[in-house]
Amino acid sequence: MQNINTIISLKSNRKISMITAYDALMAKIFDDIVDIILVGDSLSMSFSGEKDTIGITLEEMIYHTKAVCRGVKKALVVCDMPFGSYLDEKSALLNAAKVYKQSGATAVKIEGGANKAHIVRSLTNNSIAVMGHIGLMPQYVRLEGGYKVKGKNEIEKQKLIEDAKAVEDAGAFALVIEGVKSSVAKEITDSVNIPTIGIGAGKNTDGQVLVWSDMLGFFDEFKPKFVKRYLNGAEIVKNAVKEYVEDVRNGKFPTEEYSY
Ligand code: KIV
Repeated sequence: MQNINTIISLKSNRKISMITAYDALMAKIFDDIVDIILVGDSLSMSFSGEKDTIGITLEEMIYHTKAVCRGVKKALVVCDMPFGSYLDEKSALLNAAKVYKQSGATAVKIEGGANKAHIVRSLTNNSIAVMGHIGLMPQYVRLEGGYKVKGKNEIEKQKLIEDAKAVEDAGAFALVIEGVKSSVAKEITDSVNIPTIGIGAGKNTDGQVLVWSDMLGFFDEFKPKFVKRYLNGAEIVKNAVKEYVEDVRNGKFPTEEYSY
């Protein structure tokens, strides 16, 4: 059974693996294999078909996190705090406490660096474990006018290092680094004592995370450069469903074997 301390200790031992899941079915499949399951607000796009992650509600995140927790025995479950649920310390505390009480997650994840350190501090001071998230932050997509890779110059690099240190000082136990140049992600990783988990941040972070429907080829509308497809899920499922439909139309299903 993974807990916050076993995850922290992995920084100096071996790479950490994290994958997203949004329901008990997939969580049960991933549970024995990965260290951390993230109920990411990416579910807004890959599960609910939205254009970005902004619209998902706290209640929806809790619903999915509860389902994931029901499917998990071993992995550490982290729930993304949705956009607008941690605007100030008081609402962040109330909302994160709600996630903790109602879902069974071990930690929450918050997007932001030095600008959100006071929120991270407030949660960790109240015994809520926090995973940070810096670099390309999908909740900033409308403000920034798109998904922009970070760390492309010295100023951006220094800001990212400051952000990572601020989130660590505020008590976060781990840090997602998304969409950051590999060399910069390495410098960030070397500058903090907590594990870093990269996505589109190269190989020198302490771990990696991918969205399950991207890496298994179920979300095939677009494929970011950093996604490696381990399965052509959509194609495999489509072919199986086509076979079923043909069997039904041709009267090949159900045979005696599947009848009472
Ligand atoms: O929402 C999500 O799935 C995430 C990961 C991409 C890190 O935040």
